[in-house]
Amino acid sequence: GRTLGVFTSGGDSQGMNATVRAIVRMGLYLGCKVYLIHEGYQGMIDGEKNFQLGSWASVSGIVGLGGTIIGSARCPEFRERSGRLKAARNLAKAGINNLVCIGGDGTLTGADLFKKEWNSLLDELLEKNEITKDEYEKNKYLNIVGIVGSIDNDFCGTDMTIGTSSALHRIIEAIDAIVTTAFSHQRCFVMEVMGRHCGYLALAAGLASEADWIFIPEHPPEPDWENILCKRLQYHRLAGHRLNIVIVAEGAIDNQGNPITSEYVKKVISSRLKIDTRITILGHVQRGGATSAYDRVLGARLGSEAVLALMMSHNESPPFVIGINGNQPCYIPLVEAVERTKAVAKAMAAFEFKKAIELRGASFER
Ligand code: F6P
Repeated sequence: GRTLGVFTSGGDSQGMNATVRAIVRMGLYLGCKVYLIHEGYQGMIDGEKNFQLGSWASVSGIVGLGGTIIGSARCPEFRERSGRLKAARNLAKAGINNLVCIGGDGTLTGADLFKKEWNSLLDELLEKNEITKDEYEKNKYLNIVGIVGSIDNDFCGTDMTIGTSSALHRIIEAIDAIVTTAFSHQRCFVMEVMGRHCGYLALAAGLASEADWIFIPEHPPEPDWENILCKRLQYHRLAGHRLNIVIVAEGAIDNQGNPITSEYVKKVISSRLKIDTRITILGHVQRGGATSAYDRVLGARLGSEAVLALMMSHNESPPFVIGINGNQPCYIPLVEAVERTKAVAKAMAAFEFKKAIELRGASFER
């Protein structure tokens, strides 16, 4: 059997554990050796002490646990070739030449580069006598499969990233809680949600909570939004509503590209309407807590699919991302997914929002 390594990297998300569990168990089922690589790329760079041989029992009881039991880190060192060289050395020494990377944009971009450089890294290691000829030969080819774990749902080539559904549940629980106290005091609440440059969490949370207004980066409001917003809120009050909920994505911008902050929105509402307005910034609460059933199942499906993809990989296989498209697992060339994600950032910066949204979708020519 092959030797696999699995790691989680970048910002954590619920469902990472369910994914790790599926990878370990599918790997073992297929007769592979599976290493849990702790602390993401950093763990790979720091070496052997972070490589734990996975067993069936080592991933028991974690399917619903938020976070990632194998740890995660944002790793600047891996951005340097010298860091990647250390990581390659440690993997070759352990005989790990099949990797499943679970993470977001940065993680998968790093994986793409690692795969591209692999041969030259091994050449350099052999030249410096850091690995033996035997280790060189046995690890000549690196197979990589990526899975997107992120609460932001901002990755190209998959309908849903693992963690988004759980984060959404967390947001909705918080809004439901806020609503009861807002009702008592006839207050307006400005709720700020995460998502980086993606408005998915804010939009979906707004739909699921009857919010009065939603600010998202992909749809900057009209230039005179302040008037329109106040009229809208006032209209609801006149209709008998005792509270208002306004949702602000952390990446929200106006039509000039300037950030729309919760603080500013609060100021507009309280000064113009004289409504008692409060801000709640949900922050990392969104990234924690129990994993939703959807994310558990998604992690199980994509995790096991990733192992199957590795089993089918051969020497020349390009790295893939395993996503979900129309509720079916789909394979996207990693390079393409990374390129498209870059194109989204460019389109967003150029205010080409329709293009950005289309690019983010799962459908690829296959
Ligand atoms: O990508 C996930 C995310 O939670 C974003 O929504 C947010 O902008 C960012 O990570 C926060 O990063 P950190 O946890 O490093 O503060």
